[in-house]
Amino acid sequence: MNEWYRACKKAASIIYKSIPETYRSRTFSGFIGDIKVLSPKKVLSLISRKKGLGAQFSYLYLTHGIDDGKGYQACATEALSSTLGERRQEIIKGNILDVGCAVGVTAGILSLKHVTGFDLIPDLLCTAKTIDSLTSNTNHYIAADMTREWPFERVFDTVICGLVCHHLKTQSDITSFFSNANRVLKPAGSLVITLPSGSISKTKNLKSVENALEEFGFKVNRELSGLVLSNDSLHSLFWMFLIIAEKVSGKVGSMFISPDFGFQLYRTPVTRREKAAKAKETLKKTRKVKHKNFKLIGINELEKEVSNKILIYSTILKLQNTINTT
Ligand SMILES: C[S@@+](CC[C@H](N)C(=O)[O-])C[C@H]1O[C@@H](n2cnc3c(N)ncnc32)[C@H](O)[C@@H]1O
Repeated sequence: MNEWYRACKKAASIIYKSIPETYRSRTFSGFIGDIKVLSPKKVLSLISRKKGLGAQFSYLYLTHGIDDGKGYQACATEALSSTLGERRQEIIKGNILDVGCAVGVTAGILSLKHVTGFDLIPDLLCTAKTIDSLTSNTNHYIAADMTREWPFERVFDTVICGLVCHHLKTQSDITSFFSNANRVLKPAGSLVITLPSGSISKTKNLKSVENALEEFGFKVNRELSGLVLSNDSLHSLFWMFLIIAEKVSGKVGSMFISPDFGFQLYRTPVTRREKAAKAKETLKKTRKVKHKNFKLIGINELEKEVSNKILIYSTILKLQNTINTT
């Protein structure tokens, strides 16, 4: 895995040379914000019109999202690995589909073989291939839009969606996503979803994701699903949501999703003013460390501990303190 982090650094220095001066000031949070706000079609059009912009995004992904394991995206995969522990092999198994794979983060950090990754942005996939060429990994990457029909048959034992589902903007995108996931999975296949802090505002919303998945032929493993948070540093806090489910039925014909279900309730800021305020807030709170210890608060426990509270930084900090003192 250290080899993968080293390859990311090397790939970043290769990519940096291809970024036009005009795009070097673009920020990582700005990019992620654009992807969240714009439709997949508009994102693709932006990237293809502005040559070199995709390279800047790849560069920022490697230097901010990965950052030798200190970036949020890398940390999320490390947290997933640590939370699953010895059960990892039994859950993330066989032929794996990595949805929204970006630069191949999940395969790289978890040292997975037999991975097919797809993402909307071709530049990220080029970077994934560059990294693989430096590490001798041989995963497959395909450019595709997760809100359309996925270009695969029922051949996968595991579908992983790391920090991706919150990009689903409409109910029809969510419906299409879950039925695609069900369709490409073999019977008893695993669905592994992580969601970033901020995508779920209250515990009851996590419960509604669980209900929606059940409508789509999945059974959520409650023991392994909930909120994952770091508990090794008093000065830095990481958290995300984890959902592990098993495909229990291939029937997804007459499903129903509650009308208030979506990932937009506690959304990424859209206006410049909101973005600036959020950036200021984050600056105060983010101290970059490489987290090594994580704790899963299962859905049942979460309902008891934080019930109806909004899951923001201060709530989670209190939760971290409670864990560390008990
Ligand atoms: C926050 S990143 C997570 C990447 C990676 N899975 C990880 O764990 O770090 C979200 C990814 O979803 C991709 N994405 C967003 N919308 C998409 C879509 N409609 N189809 C496919 N990929 C999409 C983005 O390009 C980006 O690489």
